Amino acid sequence: MIKLCTIGAGSWVQEGHMPAIREVDGIKLIAVSDVDERRVKLFQEKYGVKGYSDYNEMLAKESPDAVLVAVPHVLHAKVASQVLEAGAHVYLEKPMATNLEDAMALAQLAKKRGKMVMIGHEHRFGQGSVIARRLLESGRLGRIYHSKAEYVRRRGIPAGPTFVTKELAKGGALFDIGSHVIDLAMFLSNFPRPVKAYGRTYMNFSERREMFSNYPKTQRSNRLEVEDTALGLVTFEDGSTMFVEASWASFTKVDRRHVAVMGDKGGVDLEGNDLSFMTTVDGEFMNSQPIQGQQFLYQDIWRKFSEAVSSNLSSAPFPGTTAQQGVLEMAVMEGIYRSAERGEEVRIDVNVRELGWVDHDA
Ligand SMILES: NC(=O)c1ccc[n+]([C@@H]2O[C@H](COP(=O)([O-])OP(=O)(O)OC[C@H]3O[C@@H](n4cnc5c(N)ncnc54)[C@H](O)[C@@H]3O)[C@@H](O)[C@H]2O)c1
Repeated sequence: MIKLCTIGAGSWVQEGHMPAIREVDGIKLIAVSDVDERRVKLFQEKYGVKGYSDYNEMLAKESPDAVLVAVPHVLHAKVASQVLEAGAHVYLEKPMATNLEDAMALAQLAKKRGKMVMIGHEHRFGQGSVIARRLLESGRLGRIYHSKAEYVRRRGIPAGPTFVTKELAKGGALFDIGSHVIDLAMFLSNFPRPVKAYGRTYMNFSERREMFSNYPKTQRSNRLEVEDTALGLVTFEDGSTMFVEASWASFTKVDRRHVAVMGDKGGVDLEGNDLSFMTTVDGEFMNSQPIQGQQFLYQDIWRKFSEAVSSNLSSAPFPGTTAQQGVLEMAVMEGIYRSAERGEEVRIDVNVRELGWVDHDA
């Protein structure tokens, strides 16, 4: 039985992860830690596990095999490193870190310790994404030259300080939802190395309560200190490009999570979970959809994570986002932010050799 602990007992652990973890055989949550003692107490009452306000004490006393880390973004890399040092595997919520240097150091530490850091990008486990990845691997897309990673909400600024304060979140829509579609677009393009980025960020709705996702439930005046919208055009070493659009709030007609990958033989398009595959057959332009296209199930993700932990990572290639992949994604996001700050295109320098990149990492 895999002994699991969680660092952070916030909404996502309770609503997203806990219902799934309890369904999976072979893994058991034994303890929770959170600086908010009231949350720890409520969590303990609900799930009957041990509780701590200091996660280092929990790591020392419980010696977990794996730890779920779901704390504010600025703490991700530091907390995950401490978990690795304590000898456990990590399920780390996105974004992996808030800068490239920390992401790189975390990936190197994971390698040194022989432990896994899986980043919480769930959309690649959906049926549509799995089929799209197989189409890529079979060569049916040909040479990839462009992708689109778009996640756009209409009224969807999160309310909590974990997401909207500079101090805890560092970045806004790009880190929160852009990271998910960047992961999927890069996964479906075989993880090319980013070399340049042009980015723009916007803070249009800082004081506009009606653009927050919890409106009108709370009358509390939320103040957004990070971007509500980020755009980017990224160039990769092989000459291919990726267009990124992440927005928590915008006057658009529909909410949209969209990833498209274009190759010279075919293309895949994921509108939410719905996959389309375009190609030509005997000169005819064809557009096909699989019969299966369901949403991922969190239980499946936890099952795969557990299998990787119990096999001590020998069950490669691992289907989740690895630390190495996370580093390339962080390089893209940091490049977009740097470019937006400077107002010009920037170079991205990420040494994949330092990461110990091997083919199956892509
Ligand atoms: N994968 C997804 O789709 C998805 C969805 C929602 C949230 N998330 C991620 O999950 C993480 C948590 O989000 P949330 O919505 O639960 O936020 P939240 O604010 O509800 O929870 C964060 C928790 O971390 C605790 N915390 C802060 N500092 C701590 C420390 N030093 N030690 C221990 N606990 C500490 C806070 O007290 C709080 O309970 C974020 O990284 C977020 O991006 C991912």
